[in-house]
Amino acid sequence: MRRAAGIARKLRGPSIASHDRDRARAYSTVIAPGGLEIASISVISLSDHLPFGARIRGVTREKLSDPSVRGQIASVFEDRGLLVFEDVEPSGEMQLELAGVFGPLRHHAMESVSRVEIGPGISFTELAARPGEGNVFEIDGRPLAGWTPWHWDACYAPEIYRAGLLRALEIPPEGGLTGFADGVQLHGAISPELRARFEELDILYQVGLMMMNQRFGMPGSYRVIHVPPSTRDMLRECEGAPRAIHPAIWRRSSGEKVLHVSPWQAAGIEGHEDPEGDALLESLCQEIYAKMRPYWHCWKPTDMLIWDNWRFIHSVSGHDPVHSRRVHRATIDGDYGLGRPEVSGNP
Ligand SMILES: [Fe+2]
Repeated sequence: MRRAAGIARKLRGPSIASHDRDRARAYSTVIAPGGLEIASISVISLSDHLPFGARIRGVTREKLSDPSVRGQIASVFEDRGLLVFEDVEPSGEMQLELAGVFGPLRHHAMESVSRVEIGPGISFTELAARPGEGNVFEIDGRPLAGWTPWHWDACYAPEIYRAGLLRALEIPPEGGLTGFADGVQLHGAISPELRARFEELDILYQVGLMMMNQRFGMPGSYRVIHVPPSTRDMLRECEGAPRAIHPAIWRRSSGEKVLHVSPWQAAGIEGHEDPEGDALLESLCQEIYAKMRPYWHCWKPTDMLIWDNWRFIHSVSGHDPVHSRRVHRATIDGDYGLGRPEVSGNP
């Protein structure tokens, strides 16, 4: 039996590109006591051109009952940060079972976000964009439903959850892709000057800056076409909400540094909320966009995807507003322990 650490080591870095393809597709074979093969999953690099992510096939509910399979998947996730599960049973029960590999579930930080009940006391967050119901923005001359700028989830709260496990239930014929950019890759890619400037800086986040009030990293061409009453109610709810503070750069237990800045909800640099500080944060956001090597996931009904919310930023490309898009997210609990609430009068 190959061990989980071995799988993670094999996937690390660009060396995956040189592996024999057939061998790469059979990384893991789990043998039961007594020698029967009871489960096998395959783990391959998400892309030969990306330093993060993995693609996993062969996962079933039966195989997830094997602790060694669960351990292998969790280990690859810790190392690669983004896992795409292909050809899995497209059900809420399967999503719940798979989410359990990574930790306990938690509710979304915002009470007003829509949920679906999966079982007694268990719910997923529902992210839906239906014709005539959701936000529609014009980006670069195209009307888009479901468009979501780069961010990491719940940055406006002191605690940030570990991960989100997504499944798409309604998929538009075009667009509706979910993008992911790795903070480890970004930390290494941005200019040394900006990296040095932000090493010790903390970023302020406020929930009410989402949707129509984004301050940093806006697209060049942007116009609000339609915002439903529910969005306006949510923004009203958020007025005066306390801000949260997180480091721009932090270090993983692996030793890797992570650039983790969320343009969508950023209010400014702590202790530097002035034109000079705002210009510095804007230049970082533009540098992030210029240097990121994102993965864009084109959804199939039998996909599930999990990302490390302490490490990645993500985005949604948007789609033609005449079509629906609906995604369920299981939210994995946890906290990296570096966020804090803003205390009035105490910088
Ligand atoms: Fe998100």
